[in-house]
Amino acid sequence: MRWLTWRYTVAVSAAELIHVLQSACSGELAAGYAYRGHWKSVPPGAIREQIQKIEEEEWHHRTTVQALLARLGSGPSKPREALFWLIGKTIGLLCRVGGRFIPMYGAGRLESTNIAEYERAAALARDAGYVDMIDCLLTMAEVEWEHERFFREQVADHWMLRIFSVWPSPPLKHTIRLPYGHSRGEDLL
Ligand SMILES: [Fe+2]
Ligand SMILES: [Fe+2]
Repeated sequence: MRWLTWRYTVAVSAAELIHVLQSACSGELAAGYAYRGHWKSVPPGAIREQIQKIEEEEWHHRTTVQALLARLGSGPSKPREALFWLIGKTIGLLCRVGGRFIPMYGAGRLESTNIAEYERAAALARDAGYVDMIDCLLTMAEVEWEHERFFREQVADHWMLRIFSVWPSPPLKHTIRLPYGHSRGEDLL
């Protein structure tokens, strides 16, 4: 009976992991195109370069997630890919007319959910028996944490925050690895 329960948990976790990774895969597609439009709307300088770097990191995440899905015998969800392609392209275009605050604010909010998404994927990978995927997923969560911090800094003290409340702060970066017992102990800010 216990064996059957375990088998059931593993199967459900694997199915849920595929679902979360498909969501992440499409999210990275939208993020890549949105950030491409975003950095092109920012004047040349360090901030523009940082957003361009973030775009590159999102494409890298997408490639990584696609490889994980392939290992699970799955792939991206075509309807979701089409929808998020459209969302990313639309946001990318809107960034050119949205001023400075709105694109930074929207990006920060989205990045905070991306951290949780990869943390959830790591927990599911553990429960499904794919322990070798955990480090890769936590590393992506940590990169999303850095993205969130960058965009939070861009909107800090902006007068528009009197209208749009700032999104909740994610837990400290080192806590991402705490459930797995191998925190790198870095960045205790
Ligand atoms: Fe990402
Ligand atoms: Fe990101």
